[in-house]
Amino acid sequence: MQENNIRPFVKWAGGKRQLLPQIKKRMPKQYNKYFEPFIGGGAVLFDILPEKAVINDINKVLINAYRDIRDFTDDFIVEVKKIDKDMWEDGKEYYYAKRNKFNEKISNGQYDLELSTIFVFLNKHCFNGLYRVNSKGLFNVPYNNSRMSSIDENEIKKIASYLQRVEIKKGDFEDALKEANKGDFIFLDSPYAPLNPTSFEAYTKEGFDLESHRRLAKVYEELTKKGCYCMLTNHNTELIRELYGNKGYSIDVVNVKRMINSDAKNRKGEEVIICNY
Ligand SMILES: C[S@@+](CC[C@H](N)C(=O)[O-])C[C@H]1O[C@@H](n2cnc3c(N)ncnc32)[C@H](O)[C@@H]1O
Repeated sequence: MQENNIRPFVKWAGGKRQLLPQIKKRMPKQYNKYFEPFIGGGAVLFDILPEKAVINDINKVLINAYRDIRDFTDDFIVEVKKIDKDMWEDGKEYYYAKRNKFNEKISNGQYDLELSTIFVFLNKHCFNGLYRVNSKGLFNVPYNNSRMSSIDENEIKKIASYLQRVEIKKGDFEDALKEANKGDFIFLDSPYAPLNPTSFEAYTKEGFDLESHRRLAKVYEELTKKGCYCMLTNHNTELIRELYGNKGYSIDVVNVKRMINSDAKNRKGEEVIICNY
């Protein structure tokens, strides 16, 4: 099946749909393999549908859902539709019952198809599509009061068909990039650097600390030496300019509207797109 332009199956914080035109016009015209080691909802991947791709994320539940959609497409669709159909009149009660079930399975290490299907239901019915966990790793995002469908069956089929040719990895970005070679294109959309980094907490909130940002900059430099095309996006902050400035990379500042931000004055902002070519 020749797919074009698929919609992501989850809503994800930091989703890149808004920046797509800016990203696409800066992509190399030709490359070998596509690598996206912080895949999240995959807005870029599903828009460009590269011929050969490696995707990765550290979020185990998310990556299992990608794999389950690819490998057990029909069962996945049937199960999610059943979860939606069984929703009680009291949507809120139902949502919290599913959330409890999800957390019970996480606690028991049951990363199976049922977990993936509840995950997609929770993603569509939780506040802002956030994936936030407490210190025990348990999902704690409240209900968004909707009764929407968790999936679009046709989109899931298109996703599954496309993912047949994608290598799906689970873990740290550095490991996922070990096999990147000259001529490959690497799109790096890590968790954001905090806008106001007044404390160490500002970094840990995003789950990607200062050391991780430094490590990513080092990996970017190594990939550059190898001859890979790299594109990285982040907030336009002092840290990012310090890590990527004066290295011969091109740094473009672009304006964005911020969706997931409770602070109204921070809803408009600047991001950077950094390319090494
Ligand atoms: C900004 S989001 C990516 C959003 C994505 N571009 C989209 O369109 O939805 C960053 C992702 O990095 C993942 N992540 C955090 N730390 C990581 C690490 N050390 N290695 C790989 N992935 C990581 C998070 O789970 C999250 O999904």
